[in-house]
Amino acid sequence: MEHPTGDEQVYAGIEAALQVEPANRALRLHLIALLLTGGQPGRALRHCELAWSTRPDQPEVAALAAQACDLLGDPAGAAHWRALGPSPADGLGDAVPGPPPEPVPDAVGMADVAGTAGGEGPAWLDVDRPTVRLVDVAGMVEVKQRLERALLAPLRNAELRAAFGKTLRGGLLLWGPPGCGKTFIARALAGEMGVSFVPVALSDVLDMWLGNSEQNVHRVFQRARRDAPAVLFLDELDAIGHRRTNLRGDGMRNVVTQLLAELDGVDSANDELFCLGATNQPWMVDAALRRPGRFDRTVLVLPPDPPARWGILRQALADRPVAAIDLDPLVARTETWSGADLVHLVDSAAELALAESVDAGAVRPITQRHLDGALRELGPSIHDWLDTARSVAAASDDSRTFAPLVDYLRRVRKW
Ligand SMILES: Nc1ncnc2c1ncn2[C@@H]1O[C@H](COP(=O)(O)OP(=O)(O)O)[C@@H](O)[C@H]1O
Ligand SMILES: [Mg+2]
Repeated sequence: MEHPTGDEQVYAGIEAALQVEPANRALRLHLIALLLTGGQPGRALRHCELAWSTRPDQPEVAALAAQACDLLGDPAGAAHWRALGPSPADGLGDAVPGPPPEPVPDAVGMADVAGTAGGEGPAWLDVDRPTVRLVDVAGMVEVKQRLERALLAPLRNAELRAAFGKTLRGGLLLWGPPGCGKTFIARALAGEMGVSFVPVALSDVLDMWLGNSEQNVHRVFQRARRDAPAVLFLDELDAIGHRRTNLRGDGMRNVVTQLLAELDGVDSANDELFCLGATNQPWMVDAALRRPGRFDRTVLVLPPDPPARWGILRQALADRPVAAIDLDPLVARTETWSGADLVHLVDSAAELALAESVDAGAVRPITQRHLDGALRELGPSIHDWLDTARSVAAASDDSRTFAPLVDYLRRVRKW
């Protein structure tokens, strides 16, 4: 049997994930776009039909199906789908002319676009200097060790860096299930380094002024460079993959090109700029972003281990009235709960105690009973994610990225 190519493995991985999660529309659209550019219009069309059968009236699916029919040389099919597709007013589809392309700026040396000249940068950037440190990140010893080795130690030691010819260039990609501390850790890292934190959700950059995404990317980097040393946190790195199917392909290509130019920098443009990326779906991240010198190193941020769960529960309960609480049984019963789930658990227990306090007309502290009650009501939110990730990992040949996840899935008892 022929060995499947890299592309085929990606297709098969996503198809496996879709069997687990057939209604994951973004993932299916992504697959369809990949199949279309990968020369598999027939298979793309099948996925269009599947998407349409679960939910009709998706103009972008119809537009993609029409494209597939064109490629298959089926004008009748194409006409059928076009009739179901976007109306010109929707701004989707090939027939609709987009806004005129803006010139793509150089990575550096470009006169800044209006509104950023004063050094303030785009108003929507929320830059600060975090006071949280890595000690505030409960548990997660392995993640901290990796960050120490990859970034903090070389940063502290210029001599060693010179001796080993190591630069601080190249970004780290934090990945893992939602709510498990990627953003928290990135902030803590900036706090640890005592530098500015420049967080950007890529979906915002893509949304902001539809045709101007390249300039948005440039403005973000310029702002971060002005603030250097800084941690530039590019969240939702997978957003480009999702959107590529919705917008005209060229626009997204330009955004990727711009992002690559900015990441690669020229000369010393990016000295003192520490790029961290984050994603819940590394398999959706454009492959070009993962090449050496870019987001070439990945750090898996797993659901909190027992010490992390203990610390997260502790932190969430600090500053609240509590009485005789034993966290150990809660820790034992919350394997595969995310950090956000645990914070929610404590919030819910606090609500129960508050309701009782209102009834009693006096403060009733949070007790074990409240926490147990909340635990019975709630559950972990990331099991779908774990299922999807397991399917993708099984079909992927990128073992360097996925091995730690596969290990974790073997270790956990159930989900
Ligand atoms: N190791 C941890 N220590 C302390 N709090 C944590 C930890 N992991 C997660 N949390 C809590 O969970 C919340 C959600 O984490 P977040 O960083 O937003 O997740 P992600 O970015 O991975 O989706 C955080 O705001 C924080 O309160
Ligand atoms: Mg986050």
